Amino acid sequence: MGQSMHASEPQRSFQTGRQIEIYRTGKRIDPGFIPLAVEQLEEKARSILSAEAYDWIAGSAGSGGTARNNLAAFDRWRIVPRMLCDISSRDFGLSLLGHDLPLPLLIAPIGVQAAAHPEGEKASAAAAAALGIPFVLSNVATFSMEEVARAAGPGPRWFQLYWPKDPELTASFLDRAKQAGYTAIVVTLDTQSLGWRERNLQLAFLPFLQGTGLANYFTDPVFRRSLARPPEEDVPAAAERYLQVFSDLSRTWKDLRLLREATDLPLLVKGIQHPEDARQAIDQGVDGIVVSNHGGRQVDGSVGTLEVLPGVVDAVHDQVPVLFDGGIRRGVDVFKAVALGARAVLVGRPILWALAVGGREGVREHLLNLAADLDLSFALAGKSRLADVGRGDLVSAAG
Ligand code: FNR
Repeated sequence: MGQSMHASEPQRSFQTGRQIEIYRTGKRIDPGFIPLAVEQLEEKARSILSAEAYDWIAGSAGSGGTARNNLAAFDRWRIVPRMLCDISSRDFGLSLLGHDLPLPLLIAPIGVQAAAHPEGEKASAAAAAALGIPFVLSNVATFSMEEVARAAGPGPRWFQLYWPKDPELTASFLDRAKQAGYTAIVVTLDTQSLGWRERNLQLAFLPFLQGTGLANYFTDPVFRRSLARPPEEDVPAAAERYLQVFSDLSRTWKDLRLLREATDLPLLVKGIQHPEDARQAIDQGVDGIVVSNHGGRQVDGSVGTLEVLPGVVDAVHDQVPVLFDGGIRRGVDVFKAVALGARAVLVGRPILWALAVGGREGVREHLLNLAADLDLSFALAGKSRLADVGRGDLVSAAG
């Protein structure tokens, strides 16, 4: 994957080349330009999107406290840059579950991307694939996993699973994902039921009830067999069936073994926040852990994910890679997460803002900006490799 990135995108374009290119071409005067600061990118997306679509993406659980805590947690750690470290030759690539990643970045699973742009996941997956950045496709995507794979072309991609109640449907999803070239399964444990999302409730907006975001279900032979009439003929009944099979609230850690045994692909668990949950997951044989609170969309008033990352990393003892998401907005955020022990991070909402503003090209531009920012931030902090970054490169704001 690193190879393909280097072939299509010369390495220097992630380094100072990108910065100079922007200054030279004066890109800001181009009306199609993707705003560089993520706050402006979000504002531009907001001006384009309906209130329902904007709130679907921006919204979180309850008062939004957890989403704010995710962002605030980054301010509590400060980088201490080192000087004269020979940063002339840099490589921030890594190997992760059989992939060579050019940078410690993946695209987070985000459902119903047609809310941002009609091409939805097809556009964001294609942009990521062209840069060799792994794309994690949400189970509740607008397009089926096969369609997204076709649209994206060759590139690393994983499938995120909302673990259905029905084992046959689970097996079908897992099998289809493997057939379609997804090389790992990320099971999301924090959403056995949707959180209390005030902004979405206020507008009574739940895309699934209209059948949007259910392409993986509606194209699935097992799901279709369970319906009296095909989804095309009776969307409300199919959506109702989806709500019934979406999850099983009675599951406990020992049940994870069943999922582990149901696929030979690497299995990661997403939504881990407590060190003991990380240990439980490892005991059930998972291959990776994603520290995440679903962007603050599930439990209001919870801890920011960066706050819990060190505890989870310590509990894992390097047995499996620990990935991270929740509030990654800039290169320095990636630095802090890596310094606290994350192998790589997942980028969430900013991808949807870029998608809303510029479709596939928007996502590409945003990723190139983030990659250049990441490279420069690591370099100017004195680092040439991910392995050079550690907890000693940070101080806490308090101490
Ligand atoms: C999500 N997230 C998510 N996670 C998941 O496992 N499956 C999903 O379908 C979705 N859908 C989804 C929709 C929207 C609109 C958002 C914003 C988020 C959570 C996502 O993978 C990730 O954990 C968060 O986005 C990280 O937080 P930030 O950095 O985006 O704030």
